[in-house]
Amino acid sequence: METKRFGTTEQEIAEAAALLQDGEVVGFPTETVYGLGANAFDAAAVDKIFKAKGRPSDNPLIVHIAHRQDVDKLAQAVPEGAALCMEHFWPGPLTIVLPCVDGVPRNVTAGLRTVGIRMPDHVTALQLIDAAGVPLAAPSANRSGRPSPTTAEHVLEDLSGRIAGVVDGGAAGVGVESTVLDFTGDRPMILRPGGVTREMLQDVIGEVGIDPALASGVGTPKSPGVKYTHYAPQGEMWLVEGEQDAAKIAALTADAQAAGRRVGVLTTAERAGQYRADVVIPCGKRSDLSTVAAGLYEAIRQFDHAGADVIYAEVFPETGVGLAVMNRLRKAASHRVIRA
Ligand code: TXA
Ligand code: MG
Repeated sequence: METKRFGTTEQEIAEAAALLQDGEVVGFPTETVYGLGANAFDAAAVDKIFKAKGRPSDNPLIVHIAHRQDVDKLAQAVPEGAALCMEHFWPGPLTIVLPCVDGVPRNVTAGLRTVGIRMPDHVTALQLIDAAGVPLAAPSANRSGRPSPTTAEHVLEDLSGRIAGVVDGGAAGVGVESTVLDFTGDRPMILRPGGVTREMLQDVIGEVGIDPALASGVGTPKSPGVKYTHYAPQGEMWLVEGEQDAAKIAALTADAQAAGRRVGVLTTAERAGQYRADVVIPCGKRSDLSTVAAGLYEAIRQFDHAGADVIYAEVFPETGVGLAVMNRLRKAASHRVIRA
């Protein structure tokens, strides 16, 4: 199939929406990463998402809405904390997991009795959902296992020929995916850290837990998607942490190059000049972690384009959006860490 590329004029959004109404899948920009959308109430259309991505069927999809009242078509009840979060953080990078109504197709929720819902903070996404006239089930628009796409180019790199279209709305801003916050347990719990930080949530609803399986890497995470390998570059990535990290990365680089390997270093603007690796990619500024989040997936894709065999990456403080950045980096590195 030929993948049509749309701009963001009203006419083009209407054409993309018509494809969605016809049961096709279409990539679209959000403020976090690009999503791959289908009519959330059309099980056959949703199935095409899983096929295009090669996504395991036990991994549920987030449903994207444009209006607060659409929550009622999807969720059974909205606890007070969840309502407060919707008020404060929607539209925005927060997915709220609630008990699901019966009408939601089972492949959307991967058979769970819960559904993740979010209202993206992106004018094109909201226009597209509105024009389609239905909520859109949408995972990130990458092939399963690859870094999430932050541009329409990335979407085409992974899915050209496998999806009906993509709406090109420029680069996504936040760069890491939404925070997944579960309201179906005893207390609100973060299942995946993301664009809305734990600190921001706690300011609004008080104590918020984090799925213990996330921090420890042991046990089964409550969010099915979190257990899969994800974001990984083709080269072997290692995180280098500790005060002597720059010196250690320099030594590791020299050793690997001597062994004939093509070496990449993931760093930031502040320190990019220090390294003598084959591919040095600065990802934002260390002094502002939101810029690191915004550049992370593009940086990981660049190592693939440059053919890096091994990649050494600096690490970041796990506060604010740094928690999400480090969660993605640990996964990209398959939890390989070197202490310096
Ligand atoms: O920012 C985002 O969230 C992007 C944009 C496109 O909205 N979407 C995204 O979707 O990252 P995806 O499918 O790549 O990741 C969704 C995550 C997965 O880890 C999935 O398991 C989890 O959310 N999830 C979805 N529904 C859930 C549910 N009912 N219970 C627990 N986890 C759920
Ligand atoms: Mg994803």
